[in-house]
Amino acid sequence: MGLLNQLVRIPYAYGLWMRFPFGSVRTRVDHGIFPYPHYAYGTYWSAFLAKRLGIPRITVMEFGVAGGRGLVALEKASIEIERELGVGIDVFGFDSGGGMPAPIDYRDLPHIWGQGFYKMDVDKVKAKLTKTKLVLGDVRETTGQVLGSAGLAPIGFIAFDLDYYSSTKAAFTLFDGDDAKYLPRIHCYFDDVATNDLGCMNEHVGELLAISEFNQAHADQKICKFEHLRLSRRRWEDWQEKMYVHHRFTHPSYAAHVIPQLSQHTERPL
Ligand SMILES: C[S@@+](CC[C@H](N)C(=O)[O-])C[C@H]1O[C@@H](n2cnc3c(N)ncnc32)[C@H](O)[C@@H]1O
Repeated sequence: MGLLNQLVRIPYAYGLWMRFPFGSVRTRVDHGIFPYPHYAYGTYWSAFLAKRLGIPRITVMEFGVAGGRGLVALEKASIEIERELGVGIDVFGFDSGGGMPAPIDYRDLPHIWGQGFYKMDVDKVKAKLTKTKLVLGDVRETTGQVLGSAGLAPIGFIAFDLDYYSSTKAAFTLFDGDDAKYLPRIHCYFDDVATNDLGCMNEHVGELLAISEFNQAHADQKICKFEHLRLSRRRWEDWQEKMYVHHRFTHPSYAAHVIPQLSQHTERPL
């Protein structure tokens, strides 16, 4: 590990490593050597949590698929992580299939996005996927259908990339099921929480508003930003500011001990 830490200081080392991604899955998750490293990070650590809890299979999801780059990356990472950790991983992708719906009002940021943006070539996306279930239709309907479907493994990681406040709020109905449908803490990634140079993002619009309303409406569930994630990462990556955790405080496994017992303290207990 010491030699690796020296090597990554060489200029362009990370670029080269991305082109030739050798090393264990854990090492590459730690250094962000994946396309969509945030998806690999959320999937890895939710599968790790499942393993600690003795849960053999989990579900990971992307809301908002468009051209499918993120979903293909999620599927590929899930296959590698499944192999390394021995936890089965089911993958779902949600999209209208016909691009963005009409915005409801200013809260959907119509000054940034609009109806018909990000139209998807459904056949092309399907051809790039092997095991993933692509769920087509408005998330206002499809989210509840998937949540109610038989055999859904506990949800461990969700990437939210629906852009709109209204779509993200609708997708949050995913959290309305029984405890058995979830890990006690679900890794979440929100793509649209960072501002642009015109200062458009804040907690009164978009994904941040959906999160804020969710937290106000629920006493026993909260969606919280990862605190100081940078401190536990090897290097700065911008997605670190977009990682959240959905906490389900009354989940029967919420307080189960998941950090390995150590004979002595080390810097990195995991
Ligand atoms: C920014 S794109 C997703 C990009 C993709 N995650 C990627 O990494 O390439 C946003 C997507 O959200 C979808 N979307 C937004 N609102 C939706 C809704 N209410 N129901 C279904 N899909 C929706 C749109 O169809 C669009 O494809």
